[in-house]
Amino acid sequence: MTMTQKAIKIATTKIIGSSQRGTRGVDTTTTARSSSLMRGAIKGQQRWYDQRSSSSRKSSVSFKTRSASRRSPVVHATADDGYKVAVLGAAGGIGQSLSLLLKMNPMISDLALYDVGAIVKGVAVDLSHCNTASTVNGYCGNEELGQALKGCDLVIIPAGVPRKPGMTRDDLFSINAGIVRDLTQGVADHCPNAVVAIISNPVNSTVPIACEVMKKSGTFDKRKILGVTTLDIVRSDEFVSTLKGLDVNDVDVPVIGGHAGITILPLLSQTFPQTSFSKKETEDLTVRIQNAGTEVVEAKAGGGSATLSMAYAAARMGEAILRGLSGESDVYECSYVSSDIVPDMPYFATKCKFGKDGIEEVMPIGDITAYEQEWLDKLKPELKAQIDKGIAFVADAP
Ligand code: NAI
Repeated sequence: MTMTQKAIKIATTKIIGSSQRGTRGVDTTTTARSSSLMRGAIKGQQRWYDQRSSSSRKSSVSFKTRSASRRSPVVHATADDGYKVAVLGAAGGIGQSLSLLLKMNPMISDLALYDVGAIVKGVAVDLSHCNTASTVNGYCGNEELGQALKGCDLVIIPAGVPRKPGMTRDDLFSINAGIVRDLTQGVADHCPNAVVAIISNPVNSTVPIACEVMKKSGTFDKRKILGVTTLDIVRSDEFVSTLKGLDVNDVDVPVIGGHAGITILPLLSQTFPQTSFSKKETEDLTVRIQNAGTEVVEAKAGGGSATLSMAYAAARMGEAILRGLSGESDVYECSYVSSDIVPDMPYFATKCKFGKDGIEEVMPIGDITAYEQEWLDKLKPELKAQIDKGIAFVADAP
């Protein structure tokens, strides 16, 4: 089936889904708000996981629609000709939760769960019992990587070790760099046209690694590789809405730079809706957003880093990519990509427009304050060093 046919099929699925909502209605305890998870990414669309409890702004995905209508739009959607998505590292903390969220996405017809841990096959069987439209298969070990990747439209990579207290993301480089290199080689060999979304840290270095591998293989397309920084946006939106008493569904804070410590730069001055912050609020929020990942690492006290919020963020990013591929216009998300927006920074996170071929346009930073400019100046050398480390890792390999 061609991409155009896929787009038509998906558009039909969406119309069926919304008409069901209209005729059957939703649970009286839920409201289907017009923009929440994907706010800032897609405007004015009803989303599959956009039904939140009206009783608590903090509740996330609500499954109550099923009990009210017996068959929710999510379950009822047909995805026979939707997209094939692979999760590499699917047995892990992020991988399992992310796979569950992807299983609920009606745009996906085929979900491939890959891991080096044998439990991945059981995770796939478990997930396959959910009565949503997609099929799920588990693949374990390098000899099954090709099967997992064959025909993929989107590959999401959360494989690798997470941080423990006291570690920086860069401390993960020695293990995760090789993992991302090898998995990206698999993508180059088996599905070179897929969009690749990299979660494995240090993202600032793993994305350059993936791009260098693709370059070596002659399959590099800068529109197809991105680092997932969505969690920084999710956190910023949540922290700002809580601080300011705003509806979180309406808040959008762009976050630029990279995805580690001071390389994370929230542009609070560009918060939507326009919001004013005192000097102290700006300073506190900026530092909290930069250290939010460490907040989770410390709270888990040796049990890993963010998994659930990360899975939620990656599901949002994945949906944005698929909506772009399906031909939807007006799909934007911040992500860490090959970029020429900032001089001497070959990789940088800014808002990107997603389209039929992946990243259609990398947007400029826009107007920033003197305070934000200070952080931008500070982050550049650190980000550049992490980019260079990733590039050298592949270039120096025998
Ligand atoms: P985890 O340890 O729970 O899961 C990692 C999974 O990767 C395991 O199932 C493991 O078997 C698998 N794996 C290891 N090597 C593999 C290989 N060569 N091929 C396939 N699978 C392989 O870790 P968790 O918490 O899921 O975190 C995964 C990564 O995501 C870490 O690098 C972490 O730092 C990163 N992360 C990124 C965030 C972001 O915002 N981009 C946020 C949070 C975590």
